[in-house]
Amino acid sequence: METNNILVKSIGKHSVHKFDLIENYVKSWSQKLMNNQFCSELVFIDCMCNCGEYICDGKQVLGTPVRIANLLRNVSFQYPHKKISLYFNDIDGNKINYLSKLLPANTRNFSIHLSANDGNEMIENLGRRLFGKKSIHYLLVYDPFEATIDWQAIKPFLNQWGEVIINHMVSDSVRAVKMAKSEEAIEKYEKTYQCSIEELIPFGSDKSAYEKRVSQIIKNLRFNEQDYYVASFPFFNSKNAIVYDLIFCTSNFIGFKLFKECAWKVFGGHSSNKKTYGNEIQYTLDFENNDIKIFEDSYCYSIHNIVDYIYENFKDKGKVPLKKVWEYVDMHPIFSTANFKTIIKNELKNEYDLTVCKSYIIFGKES
Ligand SMILES: C[S@@+](CC[C@H](N)C(=O)[O-])C[C@H]1O[C@@H](n2cnc3c(N)ncnc32)[C@H](O)[C@@H]1O
Repeated sequence: METNNILVKSIGKHSVHKFDLIENYVKSWSQKLMNNQFCSELVFIDCMCNCGEYICDGKQVLGTPVRIANLLRNVSFQYPHKKISLYFNDIDGNKINYLSKLLPANTRNFSIHLSANDGNEMIENLGRRLFGKKSIHYLLVYDPFEATIDWQAIKPFLNQWGEVIINHMVSDSVRAVKMAKSEEAIEKYEKTYQCSIEELIPFGSDKSAYEKRVSQIIKNLRFNEQDYYVASFPFFNSKNAIVYDLIFCTSNFIGFKLFKECAWKVFGGHSSNKKTYGNEIQYTLDFENNDIKIFEDSYCYSIHNIVDYIYENFKDKGKVPLKKVWEYVDMHPIFSTANFKTIIKNELKNEYDLTVCKSYIIFGKES
């Protein structure tokens, strides 16, 4: 098929990282669920899916819908007794038309549903079909171009047995909230951050203020007390400026751990693609605790920061089972141990001079 130069846009590497992360996660997620006897159907939704193709550095790159369709179609062959349903929607019918030509055909247990509507209305309607059915497991991707989030549409998905990935376009807000003048622009930010523009203006260019606000909204939208896990990973452009945060929400602890594992894998042993220019191996003086600490950047953690985090918590707890150490890190909203257990153990042994055995570590004091 010939590339359509109007629809197929150039993107930065950070967007390719986003596709890689979603694809990696769906690969592991689908295998876990297909092997779960209580799951009869897997549903993947991208309610703002675009046309399925991009250009990055002059090369064709496939977007989320095409990647996930190809991946899950293969999975459906391995599990013929389970159903897989995909829902792809974009407000622009031309994009959906283009996408339709890139997608694989339906089979008996694998179906793709395309639509060209407002994504918020689309998920509201779809929700009615999904909810209350415990054997259907869904993953909703909510990925707008701007900081426009309709929480009322997402709310039901945050309160069911399923998972949600939200793209929070924080760069849009950092740049434009302070300049918002038109009624339309003001309404957009008020809706996304669920507060008045007067309350938002002081946020200015402080990205962490917008991020905190979004995580507070997610917390407030939950109406049951059940444990809920939210992981958030920032994405940076080639100028090293933040573009968006990908926020992963779930009531499933295994899914939470899996998403963090995939993010650290995609970012090559860091928590983002931010350039750190080697700072992660620098030590800084921690005057408060009269200590030396490894450099820490909350927008791009390294494995050394995970090691520090473990040491800080357990340093006077004596003999601690390894299981307890891994559980502690796994609860963290960003840190992961999945592929780094050996490195972490070696650093604790060599850098902190601890005794590291097969099933426990001996920290200081307590005996
Ligand atoms: C960032 S792109 C989506 C990328 C896609 N999820 C992927 O990973 O390949 C955002 C898309 O959202 C669409 N869009 C914006 N507002 C929308 C709305 N209210 N409803 C549905 N689609 C919308 C735009 O047309 C655009 O194609």
